[in-house]
This record gives sequence, C-alpha cells and structure tokens, in this order.
Amino acid sequence: MLSRIFSCVLNGLDGSTTDVEVDISNGLPALNIVGLPDTAVKESKERIRAAIKNSGFEFPMKRITINLAPANTKKEGTHLDLPMALGLLDAAGVIKNDSVKEFAFIGELSLNGKINRVTGILPLVIALRNNGFNKIVLPDENAAEGAIIKDVEIYSFSNLYEIVQFFKGEIAATPVQRKLIIEHNEKNDSAEDFSEVVGQEGIKRAFQIAAAGGHNILMIGPPGSGKTMLARRFPSILPDMTYEEAIEVTKIHSVAGLLTNYSSLVTTRPFRSPHHTISSIALIGGGRMPKPGEVSLAHYGILFLDELPEFQRNVLEVLRQPIEDEVVTISRINGTLTYPSKFILVASMNPCACGNKLQLN
Ligand SMILES: Nc1ncnc2c1ncn2[C@@H]1O[C@H](COP(=O)(O)OP(=O)(O)OP(=O)(O)O)[C@@H](O)[C@H]1O
Ligand SMILES: [Mg+2]
Repeated sequence: MLSRIFSCVLNGLDGSTTDVEVDISNGLPALNIVGLPDTAVKESKERIRAAIKNSGFEFPMKRITINLAPANTKKEGTHLDLPMALGLLDAAGVIKNDSVKEFAFIGELSLNGKINRVTGILPLVIALRNNGFNKIVLPDENAAEGAIIKDVEIYSFSNLYEIVQFFKGEIAATPVQRKLIIEHNEKNDSAEDFSEVVGQEGIKRAFQIAAAGGHNILMIGPPGSGKTMLARRFPSILPDMTYEEAIEVTKIHSVAGLLTNYSSLVTTRPFRSPHHTISSIALIGGGRMPKPGEVSLAHYGILFLDELPEFQRNVLEVLRQPIEDEVVTISRINGTLTYPSKFILVASMNPCACGNKLQLN
C-alpha cells in the first residue's frame, strides 16, 4: 500500500512543503527513510516504531520505505515524526480516511506516542498556509503559537492514538481559537526606564536621535559613568513594532526556540547583550545545524556590545556584512540560508585599557 501525507521543512526562516510518501511491500522487515534526512530525521525510525507499538497499533513486519519529497533538499528536525508515523499507519490500512490528505502535520513523537513540542512553528505554519493548506495538525503545546496566523484552522492533539481516533470518526475535534495577545505595555512595566537617567543631557539627546533615526552608537567613557546603565534603558524609548515587524521577530525567536510565551507575538524590541567571549558563529549564526545568531535575534531591536575592545578582532570583523546588508547569508554545501539582521548597534568602551585615561590609543 502507498500513502502520501503532507508536512513542511524549514530552510532558514522560510518553510517549504514536504510530501511524506510511505510504501509498504512484501520482503524482509525493514524501515528505510530516503530523501536526504539528517541525523534527527534518521533517528525518527526508532521513535516511530516505539510510538506506534505503544499506542496500541501493530507495526507492520514488512519492507517499509519512507520518501521525503522533494528528495534533493536536506530535511532537518524532529517534527517529521508525526507525518511519517501517520503515513505508515495510513499505508498499513489503519486510518482508512481520505480526508487525511486535506491536512498538514507537524510534531515530534515520544516513545509512548505522545506528541511533543517542536521549534519553528510560526514559519512552518506561514509556509503551509501560503502553499494552500488551511488545516494543520500541531502538538498541543504549539497550538496557541500556530493559531496566531490568520486564515488557517489549527487542530491539536496530545497523542498519536487520538489523531487516529479523529480520522476514524470516533472522536470530534474543533480548531483552536485564534487568540492574539499583544503585550504593548510590557516594556513600560519593566524596571529599567530611560527616565531614571540623571543629568547627562548630551548623551540622552544622542540616544533620542539614534532611536528616531535607527543610528548606531559608540559610548566612550571612564568606569562608572553610566554607559551600561544607559544602554540597558535604550529599549524603553524605541518606537513600538508594527504587526509585520512583530511577526518577523517572532519567527526568528520561534526558530531559535526562544519563545517563552507560546501564545503571543514578541512585541517588545529585542535587546541582545552577548558576553565578549562570544564566538563569531554564535554572533552571526550558522553551525552544523544552522541557527540564527545574536545579530538576527537582535533584528528590529538592539545589539549591545559592552566593553567593545574585549571582543576578539575576528568576531568584530564578521559584524561588517550584517550591518551593511541587514541580512546574514550562511552558505552550506546543500544551499544557502538567509536570516535578517537589521539592528541598532550600541557599543561601550573605556578610553584606555587602564580604564581612566581620556586618550584613545
Ligand atoms: N546619569 C546617571 N544616572 C543614574 N545613575 C547613574 C548615572 N551614571 C551612573 N549611574 C550609576 O552608576 C553605576 C555605574 O554605572 P555603569 O555600570 O553603567 O558604568 P559604566 O560606564 O558601564 O562603567 P564600566 O566602564 O566600568 O563598565 C550604576 O549603578 C548606575 O546606575
Ligand atoms: Mg559597563
């Protein structure tokens, strides 16, 4: 039997739909995944096998081939567990319901059949919607995040057994209500406010101009003159983000797995203050499993480099391209990724390594 289930994979911040095709044929029992899966996807085999068995279904002792199409792009992430397990159950004749093809599925499986939370839900849901899917099944814990997006019906289930029961018509499910919580006043509640800065009219004016025009700032001054203090209070005078900006910032934070409140958009401008020992990859993004770096996490917000001369020279050099282009392009053998990086750079330093002398060396 052959089955086809729909899902999506991420490439940077953009998602592209993936067809999960499952074929079950006679032969020696085996489970093969093809279509350039990465390690996490290859490990799915074990999770799928255990989840199907522990949900009370029979795992077919036949030759099973799972193809992730298009087969020429690399597939990353654990969120393909659920579509692969459902494809397998569909091909084995357990589901027997064609409406499964109207849905797209995202979710990681636990060995007991529970559907676990995954990162990057927002860009995945946006990509599926743009590709014409209007019914999407997500893990319970991601449902509120997915429901931020307009014009899609989000269904959520806590385990594999429930989904199968739903497609068999034995239980009913209603789409998750879209509830958008915008916390515009969040920053006003924070303890650090620009009004707390005493005197210093010159630098305050400089900060106001930078906030209005999006300019970068370098503060040079002796220890204790309030440089760190001023920078930390800078976000409180920045303008509010627009809806589009908030969606883009939330997408980046979703991919990086940094969202703490899964039901709301990030509406306060990010303030990122990496330690001076940061590596160039952590600053710019990338790595073996590419992740946005600090410059992208600071998108539409502030990147604060305290004690600028302490940063390694090569780390400061890599900032040049993202500041000029406002995007970071990371090249890999399998293609290139682009993350946005439009931020205000705020840096502070002492005039001299000894701290006090007022001369630049
Ligand atoms: N204009 C000011 N208004 C209110 N508090 C201030 C002001 N200037 C400095 N302070 C206070 O002085 C202390 C030292 O300031 P801060 O740590 O920002 O100095 P700094 O310039 O970053 O020093 P360093 O070069 O050692 O990092 C802080 O507790 C800060 O609150
Ligand atoms: Mg300081």
